[in-house]
Amino acid sequence: MEQSKKALRYERIYAQLSALMPSCRTPVSRMASICAVLHHKMDVFFWTGFYLLEKGQLVVGPYQGPLACMMLEKDKGVCWAGLGKGMTIVVPDVEKFPGHIACDQRSKSEIVVPLFNRQGMTMGVLDVDSDRLEAFDQTDARYLEKIVTLVYSN
Ligand code: SME
Repeated sequence: MEQSKKALRYERIYAQLSALMPSCRTPVSRMASICAVLHHKMDVFFWTGFYLLEKGQLVVGPYQGPLACMMLEKDKGVCWAGLGKGMTIVVPDVEKFPGHIACDQRSKSEIVVPLFNRQGMTMGVLDVDSDRLEAFDQTDARYLEKIVTLVYSN
């Protein structure tokens, strides 16, 4: 998608989600709503979901898309890397990412955005997969980082 069109679409999604959030403060409900909106409004999103840190493990949270791994092997793959670095990771080709965990063979590229609570603690990650190569760029990173802040906002 053209950069300006993509940015405009994210702006609309952000506005819609921001308006929705005050109706419910429960983080898991907010995550579910974020996944639903993103997944159905962004064309190349094949799997859209959260992995949450629970007792030192990354377990699947709310998501949209085909069945995915319920638990991710520790310190392996893109989600653990994003969590460990506390930074967004854009993977243009998952086959070139050492240790990538393939929950679905159709996934070709991926973006992982860490999720922080209001105290700055890392709670998990937002993970989006595409069935196309090089589906994600810095525009996705910028907007998805903004969108995940809604999970723990007022
Ligand atoms: N590919 C991820 C695993 C989760 S699935 O993409 C839904 C990873 O390498 O951590």
